[in-house]
Amino acid sequence: MLRTQVGIVGAGPAGLVLSQLLAREGIESIVLEARDRAYVEGRVRAGVLEHGTADLLEAIGAGQRMRAQGLVHRGIELRFGGQSHRIDFAELVGKSITVYGQQEVIKDLIAVRLQQGGAIHFDTEAYAVDGLDTARPVVRYRKADGSGGELACDFVAGCDGFHGTCRNAVPPNQLAFFERTFPFSWFGILAETPPASQELIYTNHERGFALISMRSPSVSRLYLQCAVDEDPGAWPDQRYWEELAARLAGYDAPEVKPGRVLARGVTGMRAFVVAPMRYERLFLAGDAAHIVPPTGAKGMNLAVADVLVLSRALVAFYTSRRLDLLDAYSDTCLRRVWKAQRFSSWMTSMLHRFDAHTPFERRLQLAELDYVTSSRAASQALAENYVGLPLD
Ligand code: FAD
Ligand code: DHB
Repeated sequence: MLRTQVGIVGAGPAGLVLSQLLAREGIESIVLEARDRAYVEGRVRAGVLEHGTADLLEAIGAGQRMRAQGLVHRGIELRFGGQSHRIDFAELVGKSITVYGQQEVIKDLIAVRLQQGGAIHFDTEAYAVDGLDTARPVVRYRKADGSGGELACDFVAGCDGFHGTCRNAVPPNQLAFFERTFPFSWFGILAETPPASQELIYTNHERGFALISMRSPSVSRLYLQCAVDEDPGAWPDQRYWEELAARLAGYDAPEVKPGRVLARGVTGMRAFVVAPMRYERLFLAGDAAHIVPPTGAKGMNLAVADVLVLSRALVAFYTSRRLDLLDAYSDTCLRRVWKAQRFSSWMTSMLHRFDAHTPFERRLQLAELDYVTSSRAASQALAENYVGLPLD
């Protein structure tokens, strides 16, 4: 049987940042990850790091490549009704964001953990968590080669994402679930074409939402609003480029030039929160506890914020046997989580096409966009949330 202080399930941003934060305070952990290393390092997902997330990655020794290759953005562009407006984060709130792929963050975190002797067990899927109401919980796992084992620990960090197993270890009557689904999805591609603009462009268009993002000076990340049940197979690349061009037509900025498509996929738009984020010796963090619709670019950032709170609570426990921060963990996280839910739902509602909208509701949506781009107070509120609410 393996033995450690904190058993971490999942090597996503939450699990890896937690393990690094703990190691820096002399607390031991073992990370169990169901997939292989190449898979987790290659999974194309988020791209926007809040100001505080970027600072934290640097502070834990995983920021060197991000600072060298990440793209610092001082604002975003919002487009609607033929008009283009810039929200100037630097001027409004004195902060910026960094565009740097989640898979790069993952590569950097894995490299620093392994280099410092950290334990990450890939191809190791947790299938049960027992003894949570005892002082010695156990995570049971099986390896890709069919062998199995157990990890005994003082605490379990459930960092295993939305489809993970840890949340299921909690008796259902101990949890409240809050959920909202949106009647559309995002069809995202990664393509070998230079970004059309220096900054991200969020577009509200009659044909549906479009987002232009990027990963490097030669690679763009593009998203189109699509049907919930959209079949990516029905979209030859040519059709994607034409639809994107249609949603971006009529503005001055240069067009996106079609390029080789490196990855494609459809992502649902869901909001989900579980409360509390703790059951006895199990602490849920990141997507295991909450999902936000992606329009506010908050998911990865929330995962990092959760484990910062958790690491501080665990440090207080191991250094002075304090339980108060562990007891406060869920409430502390959920206050920030609900604000991120509010922001993400608001951005989603403001920027997408809703087939069910009445003409009245459509005009309200345009008025919202007009207000947010013409009032300094409203622009500042968007900027404050986008760059990230304080971590403390
Ligand atoms: P995950 O990254 O899901 O990691 C969980 C890990 O646990 C995985 O590696 C999984 O393989 C492993 N696992 C699962 N079950 C088990 C098990 N039983 N045993 C062992 N291991 C297990 N967020 C942003 O902040 N900004 C953005 O711009 C953004 N854009 C996005 C765009 C897209 C298309 C998508 C899909 C997501 C986006 N997100 C964004 C959300 C972001 O990717 C997630 O919120 C983030 O990955 C959450 O991190 P996590 O560590 O909690 O979970
Ligand atoms: C990206 C994803 C988002 O959800 C978002 O709001 C902005 C950018 C991205 O993947 O680059």
